[in-house]
Amino acid sequence: MGEKLNLGVLVSGRGSNLQSIIDAVEEGRLEASLKIVLSDREDAFGLERARKQGIDAEWVDPSPHAGREDYDRAVVAKLREADVELVVLAGFMRILSPLFVESFRNRIMNIHPALLPSFPGLHVQQKAIDHGARFSGCTVHFVDTGVDTGPIIIQAAVPVLDGDTEESLSGRILKQEHRVFPKAIQLYAEGRIRVRGRRVFIDGGEEENGGQCLVNPPLGR
Ligand code: GAR
Repeated sequence: MGEKLNLGVLVSGRGSNLQSIIDAVEEGRLEASLKIVLSDREDAFGLERARKQGIDAEWVDPSPHAGREDYDRAVVAKLREADVELVVLAGFMRILSPLFVESFRNRIMNIHPALLPSFPGLHVQQKAIDHGARFSGCTVHFVDTGVDTGPIIIQAAVPVLDGDTEESLSGRILKQEHRVFPKAIQLYAEGRIRVRGRRVFIDGGEEENGGQCLVNPPLGR
């Protein structure tokens, strides 16, 4: 077996996606080494989760930095120092500057709680409900210089139900986030991801599901 993939994870909040990555590593589903966890928020629970695991975890305070690029330079330096190969945004709520994106070109993955390109930005579970979408879900994608616009690696679709609230839909989507994010990282660790323009190809990843599709509400009722 080859070297493990060195990960750096950025969080802003509770860090349940970080936890799903930690768990996947522990359970041997993800051949990666968590080198460092960084946060823009001192009180991010994700930092605590990392520390509990003995992972180097640091708050990088944005306030002394003049602008986005200045802050990102500090974050990039820490990631490089930790020998990070893949940067994972797990609920990191800052937009990355071109400097950051170029420093780790096609080596930054983000998870977003909607089926991109629908509903980029914030509060997207509520937006999906308000729009009347029948499906939402989550997307793991590489980060480019736009907001939630980079090449899509994997998506999970979740039906929007009549009685859904922002909370209930978010919870159902989050369960899928915890499944697909570690998987996408493992595909990267296995060297099976190729990016051609906007499209991402997974070596040996063609699913034979016979063109099976999801319909919501179900037909025939
Ligand atoms: C997740 O739902 C993630 O998809 C979302 O924030 C949540 C973080 O939860 N990310 C974004 O909205 C990025 N724009 P977590 O801290 O428990 O992983």
